[in-house]
This record gives sequence, C-alpha cells and structure tokens, in this order.
Amino acid sequence: MWETGISKIEPNHIVTRGFRQEELIGNVPFASVFFLLIKSRMPDKQEAQMVDALITSSVDHGVTPPSTHAARLVASAGVALPSAVAAGVLAIGDVHGGAIEDAARLLQEWNARAQKNKWNSEQTARELLEHLREKGARMPGFGHRIHTRDPRTRRLFDVAAANGFKREHINLALAIEREFARNKPLPINVDGAIAAIISDMDFDWRLGKAFFLIGRVAGMIAHVYEEMTSHKPMRRMCNQETEYSGPWERSLE
Ligand SMILES: CC(C)(COP(=O)(O)OP(=O)(O)OC[C@H]1O[C@@H](n2cnc3c(N)ncnc32)[C@H](O)[C@@H]1OP(=O)(O)O)[C@@H](O)C(=O)NCCC(=O)NCCS
Repeated sequence: MWETGISKIEPNHIVTRGFRQEELIGNVPFASVFFLLIKSRMPDKQEAQMVDALITSSVDHGVTPPSTHAARLVASAGVALPSAVAAGVLAIGDVHGGAIEDAARLLQEWNARAQKNKWNSEQTARELLEHLREKGARMPGFGHRIHTRDPRTRRLFDVAAANGFKREHINLALAIEREFARNKPLPINVDGAIAAIISDMDFDWRLGKAFFLIGRVAGMIAHVYEEMTSHKPMRRMCNQETEYSGPWERSLE
C-alpha cells in the first residue's frame, strides 16, 4: 500500500489536496498551487503574493552561478533538455541556493532560544554570531560575490512588510546584518531574505531549497534552450583559458 495525502488519481478524475484539478487550472496561479501542495490549504491573498514573489526572486542570475554553468555545459554536449537542467540542479549546494535551508534552520532555532531566554533580536544576533565564530562557521544567507546591496533582498522585505510578514525571523535577520555592520558589513543575500520570510510564514526549514529550486529551474530551462538553439555545440576550455600547473614534462626512462 502506497499512502499519499497529496493527490487522488482515478480514471477521468484527479483531485489534488481535495480540489479537482480542472477547477485549479485557469483559476489558481501556479505559486498558490505550490503553496496548496505543501500546506494542504489555499493561501490567503497575502500568502499568495509572498510565495509568488519568493519564487520570482530565485528565477535567474545570468550565467554567473555554478548551476547555470553546469546546465549550459551539459546542454552543449547534445543531451536532452531534462538531463541538462538536472545537471544544473545537481550543482545547487551549501553556498549556492542551499544556504536558504541552513539559514532558515538557524533563524528558527535561535528565535526559539530567544523566546525561551527572553532575548531581544539584537542580543539573539550577538549570541548567534558568537556561537558561529567559536565554531569557525559562517552565517548562511549573508555575503555575496557580486552584490553589496542585493536589489532582490530589499524588494522581498518590502513585499513581506506590505503583506504583514515582518515578524520575528525577519527582525532577527536584520539584527544579524546590523551586528555584522559593527565590524565588517556583510549584507543579507537573497537566500537569507527567503530564509527569514519563509520562517515568518511558518514553513519548515527543510523546505528552504525548494523555493530556490522551483524558481531557478525556470531560469535554467531558458538557458538550456538558448544553449541548444543559439550556440555552437560542445563548449570547451581552450588553451588560452587554462593553465597547466603540474610537473615538467619528463620521460619514463
Ligand atoms: C557567498 C559567499 C561565498 C561570498 O564569498 P566572498 O565574497 O567571496 O567572500 P570570502 O569567502 O572571500 O570571504 C571574505 C571574508 O568575509 C567573511 N565572510 C563572508 N561571508 C560570511 C558569512 N556568511 N558569515 C561570516 N563571515 C563571512 C569570510 O570569513 C572572510 O573573512 P576574512 O577576510 O576575515 O577571512 C560568502 O559570503 C558565503 O560563504 N556566504 C554564506 C553562504 C551563502 O549565503 N551563500 C548564498 C550566496 S547567494
């Protein structure tokens, strides 16, 4: 027996989380159906707008990140679109896309600790960063190779505030940013913003990567399609782009 609470499939009849799929089609936007799949209820207007904004914020970051490199490189070898996109998905890791999950876990754990100890967000931020420093660990969701003030982050926080989601996890993330700024400024990146917002929306931190994944797959499909249709097959590193640093040429004799 394979039990599932997500969809019921019978001949000529598909029910998802209690709703007939033909009723969802054309009536409920994709982001809201995603919310329904995860939470087993329809989002209210504010939740629907927020989830849509979260997915859109992850949609693409040009050819800069490892996942897009991987997807385009694999596509250039002449494989099918799903395999090339899957190669990109495999490149999502702790420092690329994956930071959402770790950041959400830390924000949720330390917010619970703050409530128990009656700490305000400033004190919680100090305690958390001190704890990470002692372990020699970084705070996921902060810092960026390109942006010093990521435009997606500010916009997401604005949408969160407009929809009533500026609550304790976002406050803690902003307090962490202020605490970093006392020594060396380290901005909240888009992963950190998503982590704080989904935590304030009561999503389990284990769903963190899902919000990045669902948006970025759309971007990677566009890149793979562009690679297939607008570029010469088989991308490769040429001699001018590589440098050999191994031993001098030698002989077996
Ligand atoms: C994203 C990231 C890889 C960018 O790194 P970078 O700009 O190349 O910076 P570096 O790795 O060279 O680190 C520079 C300094 O900032 C510190 N630093 C960078 N990000 C940090 C973080 N999140 N927490 C604590 N310290 C951090 C480093 O320890 C280093 O300090 P030092 O100069 O005293 O040695 C990095 O900020 C990071 O690991 N962030 C956490 C993971 C994350 O959020 N990834 C999602 C990115 S969208």
